[in-house]
Amino acid sequence: MNFKKKLKYILPVSAKKTLKYLFYLAQDIIFYIKGSQMEGYPPKRLNFVGSSEFKKVGNEFVKYFKELGNLKSNDVVLDIGCGIGRIAIPSTKYLTDGELYGFDIDKRGIKWCKKNISKKFSNFHFQYVDIFNKYYNKKGKIHADKFSFPYKNNKFDFIFATSVFTHMLPKQINQYLSEIKRVLKPGGKCFLTWFSIDEEVQENINKHVSNCNFIYPYEGNFAFYSHKNVPEAEIGYMENWIIEQLRKFDCCENLKIHHGNWSNRKESLSYQDIFVSEKKK
Ligand SMILES: C[S@@+](CC[C@H](N)C(=O)[O-])C[C@H]1O[C@@H](n2cnc3c(N)ncnc32)[C@H](O)[C@@H]1O
Repeated sequence: MNFKKKLKYILPVSAKKTLKYLFYLAQDIIFYIKGSQMEGYPPKRLNFVGSSEFKKVGNEFVKYFKELGNLKSNDVVLDIGCGIGRIAIPSTKYLTDGELYGFDIDKRGIKWCKKNISKKFSNFHFQYVDIFNKYYNKKGKIHADKFSFPYKNNKFDFIFATSVFTHMLPKQINQYLSEIKRVLKPGGKCFLTWFSIDEEVQENINKHVSNCNFIYPYEGNFAFYSHKNVPEAEIGYMENWIIEQLRKFDCCENLKIHHGNWSNRKESLSYQDIFVSEKKK
């Protein structure tokens, strides 16, 4: 295991969050002095959603939505766990005749999206929900495994969750898939990213060449996490289990899997594994 990866797992997640915040804060100060802040994007220190390549990742996913998911400019779209608008920001350029609804459990992210996206684009709507997650919202009061999405049945043409089910536990995912089934139109598109584990990935994990060290089983043998005390920091699922759940909730039609390079696979598209499918008609 290389030093960077060792550090990732040695440091407690709270220390990592603080270090990341300080690093980004320093970058914000430099950008401020140079006058080179990015127009329409949140300051770096507010980025709690992962990769430092915020703009690049957002653009990448909107491209995938169009190319792999056939997203239309007039679609009604749901962004589950929208964070601080990484995907919503570039979507404003494309969803000109459609609508986007996003919800998240991080108050700061939703506040920023409302103020900086919805004010300019009235077809973009954001909502905060106070759901508990040990990594993202330790004081949350609502249980994700009992949460009903605040939208009517069959409302959406296209639903996506990028890097969200990689932070959610099995029962919560079951509840979210049943809600996706309820609010997605028959034939509607479902675009979800995962850390999906199969034999090739399992081998790479055992050889310590995968980016995520999924060594702790979570209640059984289909879910594995990497940070001993915080499963929600990073959790992967056996590929068979994911497919089984999509099938159980009628969202497995025309399933295409585009594996990512997090696990150091030979063939890959993005970082996480992308599952694109449709709801049964
Ligand atoms: C890695 S971030 C990704 C954010 C966003 N999807 C993106 O791609 O930029 C994970 C997000 O999932 C959100 N999240 C975690 N559990 C959630 C839940 N039960 N419901 C909705 N969002 C959740 C977190 O608050 C966080 O914003």
